[in-house]
Amino acid sequence: MRKPILAGNWKMFKTVSQALSFVEHLQDLAEDAPQQVDTVICAPFTSIYALNQLLEDSSIKLAAQNLHQAEEGAYTGEVSALMIKDVGCTYVIIGHSERRQYFGETDDSVNQKVHAAFKHGLLPIICVGEDLDQRNQGITKQLVEEQVRAALSAVKADDVPRLVIAYEPIWAIGTGKTATAQDANEVCAHIRQVVGDMYGKEKGDLVRIQYGGSVKPENIEELMLQPDIDGALVGGASLDPGSFAKLLKGAL
Ligand code: G3H
Repeated sequence: MRKPILAGNWKMFKTVSQALSFVEHLQDLAEDAPQQVDTVICAPFTSIYALNQLLEDSSIKLAAQNLHQAEEGAYTGEVSALMIKDVGCTYVIIGHSERRQYFGETDDSVNQKVHAAFKHGLLPIICVGEDLDQRNQGITKQLVEEQVRAALSAVKADDVPRLVIAYEPIWAIGTGKTATAQDANEVCAHIRQVVGDMYGKEKGDLVRIQYGGSVKPENIEELMLQPDIDGALVGGASLDPGSFAKLLKGAL
């Protein structure tokens, strides 16, 4: 019912030529996979225009890793939803834990960014997740619920099926530690229930929920077998085209 979605978040890696070379290799390695899995590359801003030229006839979609919530203005160093859409992005990551941790993003700014994305026809990938201390305190579900409710504040019901939520436990990002597939599914199921509470079960059932945090070709299949996990948001293992192609196969 929900099409799987695999997104590679390159973070602050790859020059334009490295980005183009990656996509050329990926297209050789995984020609048919993107038909069955929505395949998304979350590239640095600098590479998006060139990648979009190369991917014109491809089903691989592009995402930005952030946006600014204002339409335009004196915000040195920032990029708006309109600009991101204009260079060819379909999706945009919002509220990644690295943005929350290093760049002061809050639940409120995440919510404003979600509205800006929808206004310009971008599909948000909203990131939520707990740190190790919060997990040890046993407040994971409560915290993630607060993040989801805040991110979706005043979002119209019609937009809900178009959004993606990525559950990324912070302690699992780039550490090699992964939540067990069952634990990850339990939190993803809770997120679906929260969306269902807010908008009705039918809408909750339509939202795609990804898991992120040390996803690799070796563990993606088990994660994808879980009923409430519809895909993955992958950092490190998405940087190499061979590894990304294996992730795509595993996500089928
Ligand atoms: O956006 C991706 C996540 O931060 C996961 O990163 O796969 O390197 O752990 P990772």
